[in-house]
Amino acid sequence: MQTPFNFGRTVKSECFTNREQEIKKLASNFQNKINTTIISPRRWGKSSLVEKVAGQVKSKTLRVITIDLFGMRTEEEFYNALANAVIKSTSTKTEEWLELGKKFLKTITPKFTLEMGEKQNMSMELDLDAIKKYYRELLDLPEKIAKEKNIEIVICIDEFQNISTFNDHIAVQKRLRSVWQHHEHVTYCLYGSKQHMMMDLFNKQSNPFYRFGELMYLPKIAEAKWVSYITKQFSKTKKEISSELALKIAQAVKCHPYYVQQLAHLTWINTDKKATEAILKQSTQELLEQNAILYFKETEELNNTELNLLKAIVKNEKQLSSKETIQKYKLGTSANVIKAKNTLIQKEIIDISQGNAEFIDPAYELWFMNNITL
Ligand SMILES: Nc1ncnc2c1ncn2[C@@H]1O[C@H](COP(=O)(O)OP(=O)(O)OP(=O)(O)O)[C@@H](O)[C@H]1O
Ligand SMILES: [Mg+2]
Repeated sequence: MQTPFNFGRTVKSECFTNREQEIKKLASNFQNKINTTIISPRRWGKSSLVEKVAGQVKSKTLRVITIDLFGMRTEEEFYNALANAVIKSTSTKTEEWLELGKKFLKTITPKFTLEMGEKQNMSMELDLDAIKKYYRELLDLPEKIAKEKNIEIVICIDEFQNISTFNDHIAVQKRLRSVWQHHEHVTYCLYGSKQHMMMDLFNKQSNPFYRFGELMYLPKIAEAKWVSYITKQFSKTKKEISSELALKIAQAVKCHPYYVQQLAHLTWINTDKKATEAILKQSTQELLEQNAILYFKETEELNNTELNLLKAIVKNEKQLSSKETIQKYKLGTSANVIKAKNTLIQKEIIDISQGNAEFIDPAYELWFMNNITL
């Protein structure tokens, strides 16, 4: 029987749980033309949420387009992908595609290639120099098409922080913002997995995307929701788990969506009929072993102060810069502590939540507790 849990891919219907409020909010933003930026630590469910909402709101008059900036290296590549995606998802037939391309990209004169096969696949190739020169035309393409066809378009861009790896990226951001802010029929949803880069892009007053739209901080999924989800998935597949044990799964990985799914999956695999405490323990061990190479590497790359600071954090020390903590964990000076803290934040190993430093990755925290002499 196939596992009823899913991790590592965006989650669809049966594996998707909770998020009622976020779905409502994002759907309403899509329908009311409010640009949104979604920020959360890694693997908390940004892409899954956007996919879910996109599926819900899309209609004949509201098109949702998703573009992933992962692996894109240049501004031109991005414009090319954007134009292709826009044309593809707003036209149903090949002829229409050609027509739209020709009509709205006059100065750029795209080359069209048609792949024959089971599904005719058309792609548009744009001349690099022309893209550079006429980028405005490309950026305005969705707005023009939306007007012409009397539709609204939502453009969702995943891994948006990648934009800051483009050459002269501040200029690129300025260009995007200056065009996008005039769009009346196109709404943008920007999100990405590098939390700090995203925060810099959208939260720094000096950056072009400052206050571009509504910032949505995605929370974790609550314990109670996980309990009902996990017990339901077990019973659906003719296995059993008590609510108490399901709660322990969620708590072991601090409700981190990816890890809850992974740990629930391992527990499910190891369970014949009814999950037990011993099975959960073994499954947790397996989870840590599966990720151990990564954690070793991450730990090896730390300097002494960073490592010692993590020890203090894992021990729940609150006053990291206090004399006692510095002495107890051999942190040197308070300037060292600040520096190490900032590096750990930059590396996305820790985060500050309500004034307290905490591990971002709950499984790494568990592994750290078990494997590093404290
Ligand atoms: N609503 C949800 N219900 C159940 N599980 C979820 C949900 N959202 C996310 N997950 C779990 O978390 C994993 C990561 O989800 P997703 O890829 O959507 O996150 P992300 O924030 O886009 O990650 P990244 O930061 O790596 O881009 C999924 O594979 C799934 O296991
Ligand atoms: Mg994602």
